[in-house]
Amino acid sequence: MTDTDIKKGLAGVVVDYTAVSKVNPETNSLLYRGYPVHELAATQPFEAVAYLLWHGELPTDEQLAELRATERQHRALHPDVKAAIDLLPTSAHPMDEVRTAVSVIGAQGTAGIANVMDAVGTPEENLDRSIRLFAQLPAIVAYGQRRRRGLELVEPRDDLDYAANFLWQTFGEESDTVVVDAFNRSMILYAEHSFNASTFTARVITSTLSDLYSAVVGAIGALKGPLHGGANEAVLHIFEEIGTAENVVPWLDAALAEKRKIMGFGHRVYKRGDSRVPTMKAALETLVAHYDRPDVAELYDALEREFVERKGIYPNLDYPSGPAYDLIGFDILTFTPLFVAARITGWTAHIMEQQAANALIRPLSEYNGPDERHIQGYVPDTAVI
Ligand code: SDX
Repeated sequence: MTDTDIKKGLAGVVVDYTAVSKVNPETNSLLYRGYPVHELAATQPFEAVAYLLWHGELPTDEQLAELRATERQHRALHPDVKAAIDLLPTSAHPMDEVRTAVSVIGAQGTAGIANVMDAVGTPEENLDRSIRLFAQLPAIVAYGQRRRRGLELVEPRDDLDYAANFLWQTFGEESDTVVVDAFNRSMILYAEHSFNASTFTARVITSTLSDLYSAVVGAIGALKGPLHGGANEAVLHIFEEIGTAENVVPWLDAALAEKRKIMGFGHRVYKRGDSRVPTMKAALETLVAHYDRPDVAELYDALEREFVERKGIYPNLDYPSGPAYDLIGFDILTFTPLFVAARITGWTAHIMEQQAANALIRPLSEYNGPDERHIQGYVPDTAVI
C-alpha cells in the first residue's frame, strides 16, 4: 500500500450508484432525476421538485395538490418542538437549534418502537417522515430567527405556497413576488447534489439500518461545517470584512498571504465553476434591482473577478446565495439552516434510495501506527487465550 493508494477525503472515489441526481463537471451540469436544475428552477414550485426527488417524476396537478395539502397540515411549529427550542439559549448556533428540533421530532416519531429493527420504518412511513420534516423545517428556521430578534412566533398561512409561507413565517409580512421567486429558486438549487459530505453522512447512518431521523440529524451536523454548508454564512462575514469593492484587492492580498480559504469559492467536484451559480446569480441580480443595492453587485463582481484571476478558483453556490439571503432580510446565522430546509429533500431521497438497496458502508484503513509490542511482565494466562 502506498500513499497514492489512499484516497484521502474519498476524493474521486465512486462508491455507489444513485438515480437521484447527476453532477457532471465535464459539462458543468446538474440533473435532478434527469431534469437540468436550471430548467426546474425557472419553472417549478419547490414542492414539485421535492416530489420529483422523492418519487422520480414531476407530480401531476392532482399529486402536487395532495402533497401541498399534506405539507400545509404539518406547517405549524409543533408545541413540543417549540418548547425544546425555547430550552436553548438564543445565543445557541441556529444549526444546533435545527439539529435539536429534528432530534425531538425523531424521538417522538419513533417513540414506542421497542425493537430498533422496527425504527427504520417502511418506505411509506419514511416518505411520510420526509414530508413532515419538509413541512416543519420552515417553521423551525423562521422561529429561530424571530426568537433571536425577540419576536413572537408567526403561525403559517394555508393560502401561501411553500416559499411564500416560509417568508411569511420569517418576516411576519407577505413578500413581493420577485423575492418569493428568487427564494424559491434558491431552495431548488440547494435541494440536492449527489454524494456531498452531508448526504453521504446520511447514507452511512442509513446503511446501519438506523432510522431516517438519525440520518438527518447526522447530516445537519456535517452541513454545519464551513467547508460545506457553513460557507454561505462565511461569505457574508467576508463581505462585511471587505466593506466596499475598492477594498477587495488589499483585502485579498492579506487573506491569501495568510493562506485563508475564501469561502464561497472552490468545489471538490466542479473545477471550472459550479453549474448552479449562473441561475443563483441571476436571482441575486433581480434582488439587487428590487432592493436598489448596486453596491452588493459591485462588491460581488470585484471579489469574483480578482480571485478567479489570481487563483483560477471559481464561485460555488454559496457565493451568490449568501448576499441574496442577506438582501431578503435573513440573518447571517439563518443562512445554513435555509440550506437544511432545502436539502432535507435530497437527504431524504438518498436515505430512501439507500434503504431500498442497502449495503453497510464500512471502508478500510491502512495502519501506520506502532508495530506490535507487548506489556512488560505480562504472562499469558492459558485460561484467557
Ligand atoms: C458546498 O460537495 C458538494 O456538492 C457540496 C455542495 C453541495 O451542494 O452539497 O456543493 C455545497 O459545500 C460548496 C462548497 C462550500 N465550501 C466553501 O466555499 C469553502 C471554501 N472552499 C474550499 O474549502 C474548497 O474549495 C473545498 C473544500 C470546497 C473543496 O476543496 P478540495 O476539492 O478538497 O480541494 P483543496 O481544498 O485540496 O484545494 C485544492 C487547492 C488547495 O491549494 P494547495 O493547498 O494545493 O496549495 O486549492 C486551494 C487549496 O488551498 N483552494 C482554495 C480554495 N479552494 C481551494 N484556496 C483558497 N480559497 C478557496 N476557497
